[in-house]
Amino acid sequence: MNYSFIPNDDPYFPTPIEVVQHKLDLLELKNGETVFDLGCGDARQLIMACAMADVNCIGYEILPEAIRDAKIKIEEAKLSDRIKIRTEDIYQADISNADVLILYFSRSVLGALSLKLEKELPVGARIATHQFDIPGWKEETKKEIMQKNGALETIYLYRKI
Ligand SMILES: C[S@@+](CC[C@H](N)C(=O)[O-])C[C@H]1O[C@@H](n2cnc3c(N)ncnc32)[C@H](O)[C@@H]1O
Repeated sequence: MNYSFIPNDDPYFPTPIEVVQHKLDLLELKNGETVFDLGCGDARQLIMACAMADVNCIGYEILPEAIRDAKIKIEEAKLSDRIKIRTEDIYQADISNADVLILYFSRSVLGALSLKLEKELPVGARIATHQFDIPGWKEETKKEIMQKNGALETIYLYRKI
């Protein structure tokens, strides 16, 4: 099916599982935290987050294909009580109670999103991105990892101040 009419900001391109693992390691999730993935795709980052700590998660996604995949995978993982998918645009997301944001967007989308993060994200919230940094933000940690296929990947960890 062709979903090209959807006005989404970046394509449905899931983060490689090994990169998700490194992002989550850097985030040092704590029990009881609320984790968001804006543009969550098939929710793989949130499903892995639930395996690493007793967290609750919210994913925002507007692409029907990705929403369907996310719902199937969350159901399979028996995590429907801990991961909620909101079928809304990321710019409408209520992130006021986010402890952690896991993002995978291009630099231009991260730049547009950063205005919302500055206004609405609680102080102290952690954000992990990879491949692209958030323009104008200073990362707390930057880690380069070599993937099994030989590709070098950079992960950025930010803390809202
Ligand atoms: C690069 S993929 C990342 C998927 C997932 N976060 C991951 O890391 O595996 C970006 C996702 O954001 C979604 N997306 C793009 N623009 C969006 C918007 N304005 N609102 C909600 N979702 C959006 C796309 O449909 C896609 O699934």
